[in-house]
Amino acid sequence: MMCELNMDYETVFKLAEPYLKKNDFGMPHTRRVFDIAKQNFEVPKKLEELVFCSIIMHDIGGSSIEKQYKDGPAIAASILQKLGYKESFVQEVCQIVRTHHEHPDNPSLAFKILYDSDKLVMFSPEEFPYYNSQPGFDWNKIVELIYHEHARALAKRLLQQRRTEKTN
Ligand SMILES: [Fe+2]
Repeated sequence: MMCELNMDYETVFKLAEPYLKKNDFGMPHTRRVFDIAKQNFEVPKKLEELVFCSIIMHDIGGSSIEKQYKDGPAIAASILQKLGYKESFVQEVCQIVRTHHEHPDNPSLAFKILYDSDKLVMFSPEEFPYYNSQPGFDWNKIVELIYHEHARALAKRLLQQRRTEKTN
Protein backbone atom coordinates (compact mmCIF):
# COMPACT_ATOMS: atom_id res chain seq x y z
CA MET A 1 0.00 0.00 0.00
CA MET A 2 1.15 3.46 -0.90
CA CYS A 3 0.93 6.07 1.79
CA GLU A 4 -1.26 9.00 0.92
CA LEU A 5 -0.01 12.14 2.59
CA ASN A 6 -1.93 14.36 0.19
CA MET A 7 1.26 16.29 -0.05
CA ASP A 8 1.38 19.82 -1.25
CA TYR A 9 4.19 19.43 -3.76
CA GLU A 10 5.37 22.99 -3.13
CA THR A 11 6.55 21.75 0.26
CA VAL A 12 8.56 19.03 -1.46
CA PHE A 13 9.96 21.52 -3.98
CA LYS A 14 11.00 23.84 -1.14
CA LEU A 15 13.10 21.17 0.55
CA ALA A 16 14.57 20.09 -2.79
CA GLU A 17 15.41 23.59 -4.00
CA PRO A 18 18.82 24.02 -2.31
CA TYR A 19 20.05 20.96 -4.23
CA LEU A 20 18.23 21.49 -7.52
CA LYS A 21 19.33 25.09 -7.98
CA LYS A 22 22.95 23.92 -8.32
CA ASN A 23 22.10 21.85 -11.42
CA ASP A 24 22.71 22.93 -15.03
CA PHE A 25 19.13 23.95 -15.82
CA GLY A 26 18.44 24.44 -12.13
CA MET A 27 15.08 24.23 -10.44
CA PRO A 28 13.21 25.36 -13.62
CA HIS A 29 14.15 22.05 -15.30
CA THR A 30 12.48 20.08 -12.52
CA ARG A 31 9.44 22.37 -12.66
CA ARG A 32 9.18 21.82 -16.40
CA VAL A 33 9.39 18.03 -16.08
CA PHE A 34 6.74 18.17 -13.34
CA ASP A 35 4.38 20.28 -15.50
CA ILE A 36 4.94 18.12 -18.59
CA ALA A 37 4.02 15.01 -16.60
CA LYS A 38 0.91 16.70 -15.23
CA GLN A 39 -0.25 17.94 -18.61
CA ASN A 40 0.52 14.94 -20.79
CA PHE A 41 -0.03 11.79 -18.76
CA GLU A 42 -2.94 10.28 -16.95
CA VAL A 43 -1.45 9.48 -13.61
CA PRO A 44 -3.56 6.99 -11.65
CA LYS A 45 -4.47 8.46 -8.27
CA LYS A 46 -2.62 5.75 -6.36
CA LEU A 47 0.58 6.48 -8.29
CA GLU A 48 0.40 10.25 -7.99
CA GLU A 49 2.72 10.70 -5.03
CA LEU A 50 5.25 8.21 -6.41
CA VAL A 51 5.30 9.92 -9.81
CA PHE A 52 5.51 13.48 -8.57
CA CYS A 53 7.92 12.85 -5.70
CA SER A 54 10.18 10.88 -8.07
CA ILE A 55 10.10 13.75 -10.55
CA ILE A 56 11.03 16.32 -7.92
CA MET A 57 13.86 14.06 -6.69
CA HIS A 58 15.18 12.68 -9.98
CA ASP A 59 18.10 15.11 -10.44
CA ILE A 60 18.63 15.92 -6.77
CA GLY A 61 22.09 14.34 -6.60
CA GLY A 62 23.67 16.84 -9.01
CA SER A 63 24.21 17.53 -12.69
CA SER A 64 26.00 14.33 -13.70
CA ILE A 65 24.33 10.95 -13.99
CA GLU A 66 27.05 9.58 -11.73
CA LYS A 67 26.18 12.01 -8.94
CA GLN A 68 22.45 11.56 -9.47
CA TYR A 69 22.83 7.81 -8.98
CA LYS A 70 25.41 7.95 -6.19
CA ASP A 71 24.24 10.86 -4.05
CA GLY A 72 20.63 11.30 -5.17
CA PRO A 73 18.95 8.45 -3.28
CA ALA A 74 20.34 9.45 0.14
CA ILE A 75 19.33 13.10 -0.32
CA ALA A 76 15.89 12.11 -1.61
CA ALA A 77 15.43 9.72 1.31
CA SER A 78 16.33 12.34 3.91
CA ILE A 79 13.85 14.83 2.44
CA LEU A 80 11.00 12.34 2.09
CA GLN A 81 11.56 10.92 5.57
CA LYS A 82 11.45 14.45 6.97
CA LEU A 83 8.07 14.88 5.27
CA GLY A 84 6.77 11.72 6.92
CA TYR A 85 6.71 9.27 4.03
CA LYS A 86 7.01 5.67 5.05
CA GLU A 87 10.12 3.68 4.28
CA SER A 88 8.68 1.47 1.52
CA PHE A 89 7.54 4.55 -0.40
CA VAL A 90 10.91 6.26 0.12
CA GLN A 91 12.68 3.19 -1.24
CA GLU A 92 10.46 3.12 -4.34
CA VAL A 93 11.37 6.73 -5.09
CA CYS A 94 15.08 6.00 -4.47
CA GLN A 95 14.98 3.05 -6.85
CA ILE A 96 13.63 5.27 -9.61
CA VAL A 97 16.15 8.04 -8.86
CA ARG A 98 19.11 5.66 -9.06
CA THR A 99 18.02 4.18 -12.40
CA HIS A 100 16.21 6.99 -14.20
CA HIS A 101 18.60 7.15 -17.16
CA GLU A 102 18.42 3.42 -17.86
CA HIS A 103 16.03 2.18 -20.49
CA PRO A 104 14.57 -1.15 -19.29
CA ASP A 105 12.12 -2.91 -21.63
CA ASN A 106 9.23 -3.01 -19.23
CA PRO A 107 9.59 -0.52 -16.37
CA SER A 108 6.84 0.57 -14.01
CA LEU A 109 4.34 3.20 -15.15
CA ALA A 110 5.79 5.71 -12.67
CA PHE A 111 9.25 5.17 -14.18
CA LYS A 112 7.92 5.59 -17.72
CA ILE A 113 6.09 8.83 -16.95
CA LEU A 114 9.20 10.35 -15.36
CA TYR A 115 11.42 9.04 -18.16
CA ASP A 116 9.20 10.31 -20.96
CA SER A 117 8.68 13.71 -19.31
CA ASP A 118 12.44 14.02 -18.81
CA LYS A 119 12.84 13.40 -22.57
CA LEU A 120 9.98 15.70 -23.65
CA VAL A 121 11.55 18.54 -21.68
CA MET A 122 14.50 18.44 -24.09
CA PHE A 123 12.11 19.70 -26.79
CA SER A 124 11.08 22.72 -24.70
CA PRO A 125 12.06 26.19 -25.94
CA GLU A 126 14.30 26.55 -22.88
CA GLU A 127 16.30 23.33 -23.34
CA PHE A 128 16.14 22.61 -27.07
CA PRO A 129 18.92 25.06 -28.08
CA TYR A 130 21.39 23.49 -25.65
CA TYR A 131 21.09 20.02 -27.20
CA ASN A 132 20.59 21.25 -30.72
CA SER A 133 23.90 23.12 -30.65
CA GLN A 134 25.82 19.88 -30.05
CA PRO A 135 27.31 18.75 -33.37
CA GLY A 136 25.54 15.71 -34.76
CA PHE A 137 22.94 15.58 -32.01
CA ASP A 138 20.41 12.96 -33.07
CA TRP A 139 16.89 14.05 -32.13
CA ASN A 140 15.34 10.96 -33.67
CA LYS A 141 17.26 8.82 -31.21
CA ILE A 142 15.69 10.78 -28.36
CA VAL A 143 12.22 10.37 -29.88
CA GLU A 144 12.73 6.61 -30.18
CA LEU A 145 13.62 6.31 -26.49
CA ILE A 146 10.23 7.63 -25.40
CA TYR A 147 7.99 4.84 -24.07
CA HIS A 148 4.47 6.20 -24.60
CA GLU A 149 3.31 6.48 -28.17
CA HIS A 150 1.37 9.70 -27.63
CA ALA A 151 4.46 11.23 -26.04
CA ARG A 152 6.57 10.16 -29.04
CA ALA A 153 4.07 11.85 -31.33
CA LEU A 154 4.20 14.98 -29.20
CA ALA A 155 8.00 14.98 -29.31
CA LYS A 156 7.91 14.84 -33.11
CA ARG A 157 5.48 17.77 -33.25
CA LEU A 158 7.62 19.78 -30.86
CA LEU A 159 10.72 19.02 -32.90
CA GLN A 160 9.01 20.38 -36.03
CA GLN A 161 7.91 23.43 -34.09
CA ARG A 162 11.38 24.17 -32.71
CA ARG A 163 12.96 23.75 -36.14
CA THR A 164 10.43 26.08 -37.74
CA GLU A 165 11.01 28.72 -35.09
CA LYS A 166 14.72 28.42 -35.69
CA THR A 167 14.59 29.21 -39.39
CA ASN A 168 12.12 32.08 -38.97
FE1 LIG B 1 15.97 15.66 -15.54
